[in-house]
Amino acid sequence: MLILAFPDALPQAQDLARALQLPCVAIEVHAFPDQESLLRLPEAIPERVILFRGLDRPNQKLIELLLAAETARHLGAREIILIAPYLCYMRQDKEFMPGQAVSQAIIGRFLAKLCDTLITVDPHLHRVTDLRTAVPTQRAISLGAAPLIGRFIAGQCDRPLLVGPDAESEQWVRQAADAIGADHVVASKVREGDTRVHIELPDFDYQGRNVVLVDDMVSTGHTLMSAASLLHERGAARVDAACTHALFGTATQRALEQAGIARIWSTDSIPHPSNRIALAEILAQTVRSCEAGMDSAC
Ligand code: R5P
Repeated sequence: MLILAFPDALPQAQDLARALQLPCVAIEVHAFPDQESLLRLPEAIPERVILFRGLDRPNQKLIELLLAAETARHLGAREIILIAPYLCYMRQDKEFMPGQAVSQAIIGRFLAKLCDTLITVDPHLHRVTDLRTAVPTQRAISLGAAPLIGRFIAGQCDRPLLVGPDAESEQWVRQAADAIGADHVVASKVREGDTRVHIELPDFDYQGRNVVLVDDMVSTGHTLMSAASLLHERGAARVDAACTHALFGTATQRALEQAGIARIWSTDSIPHPSNRIALAEILAQTVRSCEAGMDSAC
């Protein structure tokens, strides 16, 4: 088996390669002046290939993934495992307004045609609860980072209180809290626009607590900023945050700090300065289970 990594995901792919003791090769990507991409893969491709790429800022990446998968098949790959630690377009899972594209289903079918197995981490599934419904490939494996996040938090904070900023975060915050026996509560959120959210905290004594906000992804940061302001108003001693997918840029990082979030940590599903929690080991365990044909683990 060979790991083929896109250049932007190379450090994470190399960590996985070390854990699995597999060779890892970077796909050559040339960007033409008109923004088209030219890819080059090694000529000697084994029958089983892992394609590694996170799918944040996805539009160009999806086209390049199509080019890579088709080329790998042309060069002899019979089985493609796509490891996309961040899976894009999962939030638009219904037609919220008439005429809208249901991106989750459309992109899901696109990805399903490229690979035999998909491995991802904390995909944003809400109304659709099963990954294979969203991405109907032969095997679709959804891993959870919450226990890793919980254990990381336990090493950083004394007696943390974990807070999920909205109902959807309940699944992650509960698992992270259970992993370390911490208290947790879940707030409610109404999103009024891309950068407008209204959050209400549940009744709880936040006075003097070391709070860690836990969510699957941080994008504009407004969810965390609103929650952090309320927590400070209610007397929290300190507010930190942890997420699986860090989709935010440096301006948002500054805004998060100004909103009173002392530290923010993320997994390395997306390369980002906040990365502190490595996913290589849980990804490696999953590949090993698939190799061993342990379908229940897959
Ligand atoms: C939404 O339900 C997600 O779990 C996150 O809470 C959300 O995507 C965060 O987005 P933002 O950082 O833009 O508020």
